[in-house]
Amino acid sequence: MTEKINALKAEIAALTAASAAEVEQLRIKYLSKKGAVSQLFNDFKQMTPDEKRQFGAPLNELKNFATEKIASLKDAVEATDSAESMVDLTRTAAPMPLGTRHPITLVRDEIVAIFSRLGFTIAEGPEIEDDWHVFSSLNFAADHPARDMQDTFFINRTPDVLLRTHTSSVQTRVMEHTQPPIRIICPGRVYRNEAISARAHCFFHQVEALYVDEHVSFADLRQTLLYFAREMFGPKTQIRLRPSYFPFTEPSAEMDISCNLCGGKGCSFCKHTGWVEILGCGMVDPNVLDACGIDSKRYSGFALGMGIERITNLKYQVKDLRMFSENDKRFLEEFTAAH
Ligand code: DAH
Repeated sequence: MTEKINALKAEIAALTAASAAEVEQLRIKYLSKKGAVSQLFNDFKQMTPDEKRQFGAPLNELKNFATEKIASLKDAVEATDSAESMVDLTRTAAPMPLGTRHPITLVRDEIVAIFSRLGFTIAEGPEIEDDWHVFSSLNFAADHPARDMQDTFFINRTPDVLLRTHTSSVQTRVMEHTQPPIRIICPGRVYRNEAISARAHCFFHQVEALYVDEHVSFADLRQTLLYFAREMFGPKTQIRLRPSYFPFTEPSAEMDISCNLCGGKGCSFCKHTGWVEILGCGMVDPNVLDACGIDSKRYSGFALGMGIERITNLKYQVKDLRMFSENDKRFLEEFTAAH
């Protein structure tokens, strides 16, 4: 009897099952009325009282062992069955709501990409600057109104620490430690002490471009501007240069493009002129080259600077500048398709 019990126990211990049906078959084989374990209990009934005393406990133990084993096999197949029914690996993934890139970032990247195609590389500088990099090196006279408290956020007077009012400061930063040829594009945030309204903000974004080499001419500047305008606003875009003044360029100009809303016919956006102003530019003033340690007799250069918000307004007709910094999801989501 002991041998039979041990053999059956070893057999049951080694059982495996891959499905609920297999577990049921095993249950019938071992635990049903005619099953192997029940069979031993039938033998037990025929035993003498002494034998019964000897085999009662091991037999019960075998029955419990078999019952537990079958139950654990059942649990195991049920767990895999239900996991399989819950995970449908063939189903298309649920769409994940993605964020959108900010319109200023989109337009900045587009401007940078256009200039990179002409060989310009990105240069960046600090937003917290000093008078030399923002004004003095760029030929601003000591009493230039831009230095005034009303335009510039001063953090400290002596030593002078201020928030840059334009990205032209990056020109100086690069020219101070690099000799020509220099071909850089400098995107960044700038600050001005302005009352916040739909048309003005105390911070906004600019992109500056600078090209310095031997024999750089106004014709190079004009062709670069035309290429940029047509890449940005379409191949039919016309440009027009008007004489202007900036301390750091001589001669200086402002560039208008044919209004991309009315195609130059005249509308309320271009105030019925057919033209909209988009940037300032000019030939780098020799004083600026010399101040930065570049020989102005050998080298010449052109520079240009534009506001990213302005370009974005032209491309996407954003009416109110404040929209750019309010983080209104409804506004930002409008640019999903622009990616
Ligand atoms: N820094 C000028 C501004 O903030 C923009 C500008 C004009 C940059 C002419 C230039 C330039 O490089 O040549 O209004």
